[in-house]
Amino acid sequence: MQTKILTIEEGLQIAAELIREGEVVVFPTETVYGLGANAFDKNAVRKIFEVKGRPMDNPLIVHIADTKQVDELACDVSPAARKVMQAFMPGAITVIVKKSPIIPDEVSAGLATVGIRFPSHPVAQAFIKACGVPIAAPSANTSTKISPTTAEHVFEDLNGKVRVILQGGSCDVGIESTIVDMTADTPTILRPGAITEAMLAEVLGEVKTFSGKIVVAKAPGMKYKHYAPNCEMVVAKDEEHALTAYAQSLARGENPVVLAERGYIDRLNKVRAVNFIDLGKDEIDIMRNIYAAMHTAQDKYNFIVCQDFGEDGVASSVMNRVNKASGGKRV
Ligand code: TXA
Ligand code: MG
Repeated sequence: MQTKILTIEEGLQIAAELIREGEVVVFPTETVYGLGANAFDKNAVRKIFEVKGRPMDNPLIVHIADTKQVDELACDVSPAARKVMQAFMPGAITVIVKKSPIIPDEVSAGLATVGIRFPSHPVAQAFIKACGVPIAAPSANTSTKISPTTAEHVFEDLNGKVRVILQGGSCDVGIESTIVDMTADTPTILRPGAITEAMLAEVLGEVKTFSGKIVVAKAPGMKYKHYAPNCEMVVAKDEEHALTAYAQSLARGENPVVLAERGYIDRLNKVRAVNFIDLGKDEIDIMRNIYAAMHTAQDKYNFIVCQDFGEDGVASSVMNRVNKASGGKRV
């Protein structure tokens, strides 16, 4: 199968036609690229799992292009859930609600709930509208690999496995959407993202973040290894430890690189010149650039030393991904 990256002008009608024929298509969103299929077509949805090598017990998010579609997909949507949708859609949030029977079990992995997301990316919206059906989609990466934030990342990973990747440039947000479970007694964040606990608390009054040991997975994806680059990655507690880990990697004959914000890199380079990938000036830049930096790092280097970005605001959402990518290894 030949894989083509097409602009919206070249590819919109082709992509919509493929979806209507029961095929999968890759499309950009503001968070990460998605691998989409008609959410009502269980055979099409099965192809997503095949392409990704994803376990069938991990449910998919359903993407819409108009909040009016919510009532077709969900039942008993609470006033609080509607408030969240009103406040943050379109945007980087997925709202878990009770599913309608119209959604096949292949999408929900047999759960009684469904995650609904209304992306803000104009290409995503045009694509979903042109398809005329809601689009079930996970991130467009092979299972356990890093999520793609450019069309080229997708091409590298899925070349030969999909026909069309719609071009949408670099994703502006850069990490996956915040998932909030509105079926829990207290609204619960299952995956942190750009929409923070504080932002949700302002709308809802009360919200908590799921933590603790996953015995029965709440977001089934949480029990799988995730977002990992194909080389070792460690998180350094400060600049001094970063330099030590870097030197030890060099001594092992490796080719290390530091992922950090600009000021941090400047401080390291005053002590010694290091290979680095500059993540930018603040936590929004870091969130936008972190996955792309991991992609570059695994292609060009073989040991990654990452800054600890702390727990303030979206930095904690970034650290959620970094801790998974590093397997929790700290120096
Ligand atoms: O930003 C995003 O959310 C991207 C873009 C493409 O929209 N999508 C994405 O999908 O990250 P995926 O499949 O890579 O991650 C979805 C996560 C998985 O961990 C899955 O287990 C969880 O959401 N999930 C989906 N439906 C759920 C449900 N009904 N209840 C609990 N967790 C759910
Ligand atoms: Mg994913």
